Amino acid sequence: MGKRIAVIAGDGIGKEVVPEGVRLLQHLDARYGLDLVFTSFDLGADRYLRDGTTMPAELMARMDKDFDACLLGALGDPRVPTNVHAKDILLGMRFQLDLFINFRPIKLLDSRMCPLKDKGPEHVDMVVFRENTEGLYTGVGGQFKRGTPDEVAIEAELNTRKGVERIIRAAFAYARQNGRPSVCMSDKSNAMRHGHDLWQRVFREVASEYPEIHAFHLYVDVLAMEMVRAPERFSVIVTNNLFGDIVTDLGAILQGGLGVAGSGNLHPGRFGLFEPVHRSAPDIAGQGIANPLATHLTAGILLGFLGWPEHQSRVENAVAKVLADRIVTRELGGTATTVEVTDALIARLAH
Ligand code: NAD
Ligand code: IPM
Ligand code: MN
Repeated sequence: MGKRIAVIAGDGIGKEVVPEGVRLLQHLDARYGLDLVFTSFDLGADRYLRDGTTMPAELMARMDKDFDACLLGALGDPRVPTNVHAKDILLGMRFQLDLFINFRPIKLLDSRMCPLKDKGPEHVDMVVFRENTEGLYTGVGGQFKRGTPDEVAIEAELNTRKGVERIIRAAFAYARQNGRPSVCMSDKSNAMRHGHDLWQRVFREVASEYPEIHAFHLYVDVLAMEMVRAPERFSVIVTNNLFGDIVTDLGAILQGGLGVAGSGNLHPGRFGLFEPVHRSAPDIAGQGIANPLATHLTAGILLGFLGWPEHQSRVENAVAKVLADRIVTRELGGTATTVEVTDALIARLAH
């Protein structure tokens, strides 16, 4: 049986870059007989504003049974200030399908794209393992006396032994499997004595099972500084949900910006959700100038996850060629359109 891929373009530039990602995948499918079957879902702000639907419960219930993977664009629209649809669809799938690894590679493919002085591809090549099912994203907490001068708002950070251990284990397992020399765990245990003490203890425990891997710890403020000062220090980073969110935007700029940062939401052996790191970019949506490369690299991660690492490399090498040839969109200083960048990429795919 073929691989079944759900497609949710979502909002803003998601509607422009996801069809390009599907076009790339269809091209590889036709050339290599991958037998990919795509099913698109009309979900996002337009649908929500039209009929109130965010994520249908019956779709959520069958998503990981009927599909091997989902390619998602971006969710977020100025007309939906509560962002409720993004919460239900994106965070909904992460939590309810237990996709506990947010896998975010940060790899510089062309030195001209790095904002750091004297840093090239040999200095920026790391993978962030962002915890994806707990932390400060669970909505645990509440508001009390809302709208009064005595208002209280509590947002609790949830850290479970199981949740912390499985993401740290995933980071070490990945490092071992991929010959990566180190794992850096980042927290704020100097200020957050309960939850992050748990991270400290679990990290030491798991690290002792991987003697060949250099395990080190940095507080997240130091991590932010060091990623800019000396990105070559990092190979695998593991951190909690919110810190992972922040440092992967920082990482994205080291590799050339949000236009070239891809990711996967994973639970090994199960369904995976793949999305570019960028959001819906309402400032440039609808103009045909969104950079599709983040989505193409994301499609590559998807292919690797489905068991085709050779096609993932093929996509990544072609992206590097497109960048070397400067066929890039406006935010990278070029004049190419979203569609032209994909055309150039497909033309550069090695046989
Ligand atoms: P973003 O990732 O969408 O964009 C950040 C910057 O990077 C933008 O300048 C954007 O143009 C650029 N960018 C991102 N991806 C790109 C790509 N593939 N190609 C080229 N350039 C790209 O993040 P953001 O703008 O901080 O967030 C947008 C979100 O904010 C949306 O989800 C929107 O719903 C929300 N928003 C809400 C309101 C509101 O009134 N509540 C207003 C504006 C935006
Ligand atoms: C991301 C995004 C989301 C997050 C938003 C849209 C809720 O920024 O995937 O990084 O914070 O996880
Ligand atoms: Mn983010």
